[in-house]
Amino acid sequence: MKHLLSIFAVLVLISCKKEEKKESLYPESMTEATSESTATKMTASETLGQEIFNGKGNCHTCHKADKKVIGPSIKEITKIYAEQNGDMAAFLRGKADPIVDPSQYDVMKTNFYITKHFTDEEMQAVVDYMMYFQEK
Ligand code: HEC
Repeated sequence: MKHLLSIFAVLVLISCKKEEKKESLYPESMTEATSESTATKMTASETLGQEIFNGKGNCHTCHKADKKVIGPSIKEITKIYAEQNGDMAAFLRGKADPIVDPSQYDVMKTNFYITKHFTDEEMQAVVDYMMYFQEK
């Protein structure tokens, strides 16, 4: 009898878990819908840039949208580039000096082996994607 009771308890637990999942399904699909609609606001170039930034460029590990992680936030970078009319593509090709945080330049430089091999289209896409975060 004791055995039966514990089996029953386990069953109740399992079915509770299932309930929880069902409930969370709705808000989850809501978030998906939101991120999709942001994505559709991006141009094709910005979308490609996002793929590279979060994919083979691996930029996202050090650069987040609003907060400094290892590198400055994307918003901080774009603010300074906009203010100083900087040439981000030239920087990423190793042809322009850092203007955001020169003291940490050595850390960023380790990525040039990736960025120097971007095609012009890929470079433009990454720049477009980053500038997408510029506060308007
Ligand atoms: C290992 C961490 C790291 C990764 C990965 C990384 N960055 Fe950085 N990045 C930094 C740091 C630290 C700085 C601040 C130093 C500086 O300003 O040069 C920086 C600065 C920058 C700047 C501003 C440069 C300036 O003028 O000062 C740009 C633009 C940038 N990163 C783009 C990228 C892109 C695009 C990628 C992906 C291809 C990338 N970063 C990947 C760490 C990283």
